[in-house]
Amino acid sequence: MKKILITGGAGFIGSHVVRRFVNTYPDYQIVNLDKLTYAGNLENLRDIENKPNYRFVKGDIVEGAFIQSLFEAESFDAVIHLAAESHVDRSISSPLDFVLTNVVGTVNLLNAARQCWKDDYSSRRFYHVSTDEVYGTLGETGLFTEETAYDPHSPYSASKASSDHFVRAYADTYGMDTVISNCSNNYGSFHFPEKLIPLAINNIKNNKPVPVYGKGENIRDWLWVEDHARAIDVIFHQSASGQTYNIGGHNEWTNIDLIRTLCAVMDRKLGRAEGESAKLITFVTDRAGHDLRYAIDSSKLQRELGWTPSLQFEEGLEKTVDWYLENQEWLENVTSGNYQSYYQGQYSDR
Ligand code: NAD
Ligand code: DAU
Repeated sequence: MKKILITGGAGFIGSHVVRRFVNTYPDYQIVNLDKLTYAGNLENLRDIENKPNYRFVKGDIVEGAFIQSLFEAESFDAVIHLAAESHVDRSISSPLDFVLTNVVGTVNLLNAARQCWKDDYSSRRFYHVSTDEVYGTLGETGLFTEETAYDPHSPYSASKASSDHFVRAYADTYGMDTVISNCSNNYGSFHFPEKLIPLAINNIKNNKPVPVYGKGENIRDWLWVEDHARAIDVIFHQSASGQTYNIGGHNEWTNIDLIRTLCAVMDRKLGRAEGESAKLITFVTDRAGHDLRYAIDSSKLQRELGWTPSLQFEEGLEKTVDWYLENQEWLENVTSGNYQSYYQGQYSDR
């Protein structure tokens, strides 16, 4: 029996990872540690919350003494670390929050793991979930590989780059078994509607302007979130110690082409005249320091561990739109903040 700590499991990607591990590995004990910030939502996990191999702990990874005591009490065999401040725009207005959670929080987890595991690292693993944004930006050609030099531009990507460096430092200095993956933009269910795709779906549905930064020419490489969760599963179980894997969708879109495609899907789903939703597209002031292009070379992951994306983007986008239209209550709760009060009192605050 393995006891795995998954941090940030109430967030977008974390909830998919928790669900996958709880359902696929009934012999594992999964402990989900999450602070339940604005982005954390236990409704994302309603379908598995009563499973015997799942437990939720509310807590803040920035609180070092709490993290230490949790590790001492629980004897974890592994950590899959996803908890983070994740939104680039918020990092531009509040960079310190990103340093605290993404850097200090990660080092607190590493410290606690080191204290508890130092007599035998061989059967314990620290898996750090990171982003392709640590590599900075690409020009019109080329792909990010695992050898691309770090060159972060936003406070978010700088904090994630820093946390990656700390994870490698703990492997090099103390001999800890660590793995890092750097993934491109995810999309799918339970995505908080501050991010481009769910924000656009919500605004189109409500006939509100869809803000496109600058000229909409920036390029992102989109990956179905369940394919990311599967990649994490594969890497967690099969990677050699100390490895890094890039994860991506081989699926580059300019923001404006993506939004126009989404508008066409929404017209069809909502029974609107062709071109109706696209009238909502509104070009707004560009994001400061906006990276032009991200695109991942995930051939190492394919070659060594056999992972490839499973879903075509057009199919994934349809599924995503359907999910948001079928889960209006979830969307209304997260946009009104109701989900925080819904769960208030069920879990003691630390
Ligand atoms: P998210 O914002 O949806 O979820 C983050 C979760 O972390 C939330 O549940 C939140 O409550 C929790 N959290 C935040 N601060 C915390 C703290 N101090 N202590 C404990 N819990 C805390 O983020 P996401 O999009 O699911 O991203 C998850 C991870 O994957 C992040 O590390 C992010 O950098 C990385 N990532 C995201 C993407 C993407 O496209 N979203 C792509 C690559 C990598
Ligand atoms: O590449 C991986 C990263 O992808 C993750 O590490 C981050 O956690 C995740 O948030 C995401 O970052 P982006 O900044 O790429 O995602 P976002 O959805 O905020 O923006 C996607 C693109 O759309 C980006 O070029 C900015 C643009 N955009 C975004 C918003 C919110 C708009 O044009 N309008 C918007 O309203």
